[in-house]
Amino acid sequence: MASSSTSKLLFCVLASLFLVTSAQNCSNYTFTANKTFTYCKTLPYLEANLHWNYNSSSTKVSIAYRAKQDPKGWVAWAINPTRKGMVGSQALVAFHNTNGSMIAYTTQVTSYSTSMQKADLSFQVSYISAEYLNNEMTIFATIGPLGNGTTVNHVWQGGSSVASEIPQMHSLSSPHLQSFGQIDFHSTMVGDEIGAEAQRGINIADLVAAMNNMTAQLTTNIDEVETRMQALEQGGAPLVSRDAGEGTSRTPISSTIPLE
Ligand code: HEM
Ligand SMILES: *[C@@H]1O[C@H](CO)[C@@H](O)[C@H](O)[C@H]1NC(C)=O
Ligand SMILES: *[C@@H]1O[C@H](CO)[C@@H](O)[C@H](O)[C@H]1NC(C)=O
Ligand SMILES: *[C@@H]1O[C@H](CO)[C@@H](O)[C@H](O)[C@H]1NC(C)=O
Ligand SMILES: *[C@@H]1O[C@H](CO)[C@@H](O)[C@H](O)[C@H]1NC(C)=O
Ligand SMILES: *[C@@H]1O[C@H](CO)[C@@H](O)[C@H](O)[C@H]1NC(C)=O
Ligand SMILES: *[C@@H]1O[C@H](CO)[C@@H](O)[C@H](O)[C@H]1NC(C)=O
Ligand SMILES: *[C@@H]1O[C@H](CO)[C@@H](O)[C@H](O)[C@H]1NC(C)=O
Repeated sequence: MASSSTSKLLFCVLASLFLVTSAQNCSNYTFTANKTFTYCKTLPYLEANLHWNYNSSSTKVSIAYRAKQDPKGWVAWAINPTRKGMVGSQALVAFHNTNGSMIAYTTQVTSYSTSMQKADLSFQVSYISAEYLNNEMTIFATIGPLGNGTTVNHVWQGGSSVASEIPQMHSLSSPHLQSFGQIDFHSTMVGDEIGAEAQRGINIADLVAAMNNMTAQLTTNIDEVETRMQALEQGGAPLVSRDAGEGTSRTPISSTIPLE
């Protein structure tokens, strides 16, 4: 029987493979007007994607937050510099103006009864704009210099109504309460976000099914992988840090699942 740490390492490796092989719905998206973004993540809730370019020299990030939305609704994407979740978020919001054009501006989300008034953020935002295309609202902007490193807590949201050019409260259904996570703009990862999945605990049945599929696809088997993991572990290789992608978002998975 495998030791607990080996099982956890095995789980991490399989979870990484799961991330790599799962459907990516953002990396092949084509923007209009020659806009291109090197990185993207399909976010796990609210049919949303974040695309970005990171300039390591200026530490500025140009982003495109793209989410499904009805024409009468609103979308928002934010960085929360101080904690996880909504309150304290430095947000970019977009919706259809009364004259029918899309508008985008910045707002500080100071409380659960935030007024959504225009305000400067605690970091610089330039070139903010928005568009509506194929039932998706997209906010474009350049943020930074980042100042505090490239890993941030981010938050995204959408609501179904806007009154007198003020976005109204969003639904409090489960996806709307889970739409936050962590992102590393310097990451080379392109694909699905796992942060919030880890926070709510992953569905074991889905994972086992995916593992079985992968096992078939890779024509390998768990015993073989486990044997290799044990060999590596005994060799003292730095296994966890070799885990592809974002360690910060990956690590909690192994500790939320009882493996023994
Ligand atoms: C339109 C004004 C808004 C109102 C009145 C509002 C209200 C609320 C309330 C009352 C909750 C708590 C629900 C609960 O846990 O019982 C909540 C949660 C949440 N809101 Fe908002 N919200 C607004 C705008 C936003 C914006 C702009 C964002 C994102 C940029 C956002 C993201 C979230 C998220 C991720 C949660 C769940 C996590 C948390 O509780 O922090 N909200 N909202
Ligand atoms: C992929 O994105 C398209 C629109 O961009 C959307 O209709 C579709 O549901 C998405 N698929 C997944 C698996 O998220
Ligand atoms: C991108 O790839 C996904 C998964 O292969 C596919 O479902 C989607 O239709 C593609 N989208 C575009 C815009 O090509
Ligand atoms: C896109 O780029 C091409 C080649 O650089 C240019 O000819 C064209 O005008 C650009 N289109 C837009 C909408 O900017
Ligand atoms: C990155 O930032 C540097 C310094 O501000 C600037 O000179 C350079 O043009 C930027 N690169 C891109 C691709 O925007
Ligand atoms: C960096 O930290 C400062 C101080 O906490 C904060 O005001 C600012 O918003 C942070 N910047 C970003 C991009 O998170
Ligand atoms: C709509 O109103 C905004 C100001 O709220 C203005 O900047 C924009 O030019 C207007 N668009 C049209 C098409 O009138
Ligand atoms: C496993 O593969 C089957 C058939 O290829 C597919 O229908 C199913 O959705 C897959 N399950 C997962 C979790 O990837």
